[in-house]
Amino acid sequence: MTSDFDGVNQRVLDTNPQLDPGPILQTAFAFWSSKVLLTAVELGVFTKLANRRTTGTELGAELGLHPRAVSDFFDALVAMRFLEREGDGPSAKYFNTPASALYLDSGQPRYVGGILVMLNARLFKFWHDLPEALRTGKPQNEVKHGQKGMFEELYEELPRLEQFLGAMTGLSRINFEALAAKYDFSKFKTLCDIGGATGLLCIEVAKAHPHLQCISFDLPPVEPIARKHIAAAGLSDRVGTASGDFFKIPLPKADIITMGMILHDWNLEKKMHLIRAAYDALPAGGALVAIEALIDDARRENVFGLLMSLNMLIEFGDAFDYSGADFRKWCEEVGFKRFDVIHLAGASSAAIAYK
Ligand SMILES: C[S@@+](CC[C@H](N)C(=O)[O-])C[C@H]1O[C@@H](n2cnc3c(N)ncnc32)[C@H](O)[C@@H]1O
Repeated sequence: MTSDFDGVNQRVLDTNPQLDPGPILQTAFAFWSSKVLLTAVELGVFTKLANRRTTGTELGAELGLHPRAVSDFFDALVAMRFLEREGDGPSAKYFNTPASALYLDSGQPRYVGGILVMLNARLFKFWHDLPEALRTGKPQNEVKHGQKGMFEELYEELPRLEQFLGAMTGLSRINFEALAAKYDFSKFKTLCDIGGATGLLCIEVAKAHPHLQCISFDLPPVEPIARKHIAAAGLSDRVGTASGDFFKIPLPKADIITMGMILHDWNLEKKMHLIRAAYDALPAGGALVAIEALIDDARRENVFGLLMSLNMLIEFGDAFDYSGADFRKWCEEVGFKRFDVIHLAGASSAAIAYK
């Protein structure tokens, strides 16, 4: 028996023969490929393959894998273009693609695997509870099982803190490099990066702009880690650190204040607190720069920005990502005068407000 509805759907297909369920199925199965890549990073596949070519049997044995798993796992990575393979069959040798060698070998300075490690260790599990987050508006991370705020919980143990900071480096490096390359810093002398984590933004900007003095500000447990990274970059003379809770103390004064993925961590009231605190710390003409996966104003295009906002629901409940238009409205309320948005890399942009 066919209903009217079936008839309508048949006419849709007749007039749009190109309609294809492919994108639906591709997205539905995306977690399979995601999990294969995340597991490869967690096991250190790309790091083990640094500068070498090896058979699947050898690599599998080094990683402690069962023989049943070896060729399916490595060949899936070949088909997904994250590994290359020379030859076929048991004597074939696997090696890194140029991009995997650059970004997924943990021995390389441009390693981005930290974010993949955190996705696998934390977010893969927490996203399982997306339906509960959608129904309750409550976080689904560590906080769900304890009482503390996310950062407190995360910062209780050094390995977890380092994993989180490594994840931030993986996610932010290309944005900070793009900011250093694209933004005109010439009229500013001092910069303070709020929630600066390992000091990466200050390091990248200071490297490219030798006239700038920078401060990386974060919670006290993060400060020694930032100092170590700044010293390793040879920039301790121009990049300092400061620490405290940005909801309890005024922000350090500077000509330009940057916030990389800070505002999206909080609800509207706390976002406004931070924007006001930045306004108070800036001189006239000073700039507040927010680096985020800014959602497009019509909320139709930036898939990653919208998913990042759902991730903020999973992590914090009431926190959310926002558009350039939202940022402008909040900053106007506080007194900022001029606004700009610069695309950085991938889904990320810098939203800028001038006092
Ligand atoms: C999402 S991470 C962003 C790190 C870095 N800005 C980036 O974009 O890669 C948020 C940062 O804010 C810091 N943070 C969280 N709460 C804070 C507070 N109350 N005071 C100061 N820093 C805080 C965290 O320690 C963390 O480094």
